[in-house]
Amino acid sequence: MKGVLLAGGTGSRLYPLTRITNKHLLPIYDRPMIAWSIEALVTAGIDEIMLVTGGTHAGEFLRLLGNGHEWGIDRLSYAYQDQAGGIAEALGLAERFVDGDPVLVMLADNVMERSIKPMVEAFRADPVGARILLTPVDEPEHLRHLGVPVLSAEGKVELIEEKPEHPASNFGVTGIYCYDAAVFSVIPTLVPSGRGELEITDVNNHYVNERQMAYDVLEGFWGDAGESIDAYYAVNDFVRANGANRP
Ligand code: G1P
Repeated sequence: MKGVLLAGGTGSRLYPLTRITNKHLLPIYDRPMIAWSIEALVTAGIDEIMLVTGGTHAGEFLRLLGNGHEWGIDRLSYAYQDQAGGIAEALGLAERFVDGDPVLVMLADNVMERSIKPMVEAFRADPVGARILLTPVDEPEHLRHLGVPVLSAEGKVELIEEKPEHPASNFGVTGIYCYDAAVFSVIPTLVPSGRGELEITDVNNHYVNERQMAYDVLEGFWGDAGESIDAYYAVNDFVRANGANRP
């Protein structure tokens, strides 16, 4: 299974910090943010990784990560996203790197207390369709900033709503996704959303409609450090006290 780390975007929710660097290079406790997502993939057994980034600070990732070997990566590739066209567009740049294999996609601003290995192993065992990782979220105000699944009485995902005004469940969709190689034929069919981006939620709803969507529920802390300055500090505080990616 290959890994794609998405580390682009303008980071506008963390302005002005992100005027002088890429969001994923800001510190989370004692490392640049990107390091925690690399650790998540490597400790889940994924050591062929493509990093997709963009903007004016892309070269800093090369300085930090080099060929990836020091970070436990066997093969590290880079792609450059010319415009902030959304998560799904960024993933599309990895098509030739993924080359028909199953792929784990991670938004590099997501930080988890616990390892994503169980999800990776489940998809390795049955690498068809898609698999998402849900996190319990109680506050409706927080859910309004996330993808939120509509679940049936049997617990199946019926639909994912992006940033819903009225969240239909108490789960957020984290930025960790497993796909089969068919994902690259879904991306060209997408149309830009209201925010002018190709949405990963539209990719996921394609798999929901095909009845090929599975999910796991993450235990422990989850944070999107790019969501707001408060979320950024909540992730910093958590990681400083507890670390991340624990087995
Ligand atoms: C993205 C996804 C959203 C998901 C979130 C997790 O939101 O669109 O569905 O819940 O990541 O971090 P964004 O950060 O692009 O607003």
